[in-house]
Amino acid sequence: MKFFIDTANVKDIESAYKIGVLSGVTTNPSLVAKEGVKFEDRIAEILQLVPEVESVSAEVTPDAETAEEMIAQANELIKINNHDDKITIKLPMTLAGLEACRYLSRKGVKTNVTLIFTVNQALLAARAGATYVSPFLGRLDDISEDGVLLVDKIAQLFRTHGLDTQIIAASVRHPDHVTRVAMAGAHIATVPFSVIAQLAKHPLTDQGLEKFAADWQKSIK
Ligand code: E4P
Repeated sequence: MKFFIDTANVKDIESAYKIGVLSGVTTNPSLVAKEGVKFEDRIAEILQLVPEVESVSAEVTPDAETAEEMIAQANELIKINNHDDKITIKLPMTLAGLEACRYLSRKGVKTNVTLIFTVNQALLAARAGATYVSPFLGRLDDISEDGVLLVDKIAQLFRTHGLDTQIIAASVRHPDHVTRVAMAGAHIATVPFSVIAQLAKHPLTDQGLEKFAADWQKSIK
């Protein structure tokens, strides 16, 4: 399973990129709004920061309701990085979003259909040619459903029918989500930097380091 970072924060993206684990970046309107910057400018900045990743998701804005409006926005977004194919158009899981997905994927543009909460939604998006689907597991857990089980079922369905759409496990809240979606067959987990940092930690690692440091001090006295 690969890692994407789920943020529009430049510092967090730089921190994750320099440890070498990053294969992509996902953003959404809420994450960009939190940064208080112009959407297109921040996407351009992110594309410059992470030259070696496979995908940077930029979502069409909530005021784009028709497929035509989404496609028009996508065409502007694609221009930001001179048509570099890492820019991925994130589309909502609506009928218009699927129509835009179909159109863009036929043009060779990467797409990420977002706000997936059922297996049927994932199947529709895959059939519309989505490069990625983003099931939101944390938000399902929030309403007492099982988000990891959804990822597991989508992975099983894609394998059974030979669909090559990749699953991005999204709305990941803690390290156990990461382990469980990896075991369930997600191709990618998109996670905030705080979760990436937590993945690297273990109390016994900290204790071990403290003991090495203490023993080292004793040995040099
Ligand atoms: C993914 O693409 C979304 O940006 C994100 O994972 C949503 O997560 P949240 O439920 O924590 O807002």
